[in-house]
Amino acid sequence: MAFNIAILISGNGSNMLKIIQAYKNGQIKSKVVTVVSNNPNTIGIKKAQSYGIITKVINHREFNNTIQFEKTLSEYLFKKSINLICLAGFMRVLGKNFITKWDRKIINIHPSLLPSFKGLNTHKRAIEQGVKYSGCTVHYVNESLDSGEIIDQDIVRVSESDSEISLKKKILMKEHKLYIKVIQKLEKNCD
Ligand code: GRF
Repeated sequence: MAFNIAILISGNGSNMLKIIQAYKNGQIKSKVVTVVSNNPNTIGIKKAQSYGIITKVINHREFNNTIQFEKTLSEYLFKKSINLICLAGFMRVLGKNFITKWDRKIINIHPSLLPSFKGLNTHKRAIEQGVKYSGCTVHYVNESLDSGEIIDQDIVRVSESDSEISLKKKILMKEHKLYIKVIQKLEKNCD
């Protein structure tokens, strides 16, 4: 099955870029229909536009509350016939209404081996804890932060000399491959 994908970002968008490239070069069957950012100043939006992808900024700060923001987001995604939402550095926790509407259609990438190191500052905490392995996880999004069903993971060895920055780089390289692999897997599972 080929999905109509929306990628939701807040920042840099390197995972987003890899998904767009995989779509453009036929590595995935699915189509990246749109990229949405809640942050009007993100560089990721410009990167997506350079690939001819339709972009949309829905700035959560312009809404009175989260429910209104998510309602607008949801309506936009419905209008675009989206059936797979890929969170890629999207820094908003989605609420119950949104998640219920898009049940098992939202996936996220997280830079740790969940269920370890949920939330923010994952690399720093991994270094501080002295873990020997870390990695990344793609999971379905449910109502609890970074707790939905795990779809796939990849690991990296953490060496003595690793810093927060070097670990982040190592994991990000794995993330880029894992996200594509998971989309391919979901395409197969839904055939
Ligand atoms: C990635 O580390 C991802 O795991 C996390 O946010 C970061 C986004 O990076 N959720 P990028 O914007 O894709 O470069």
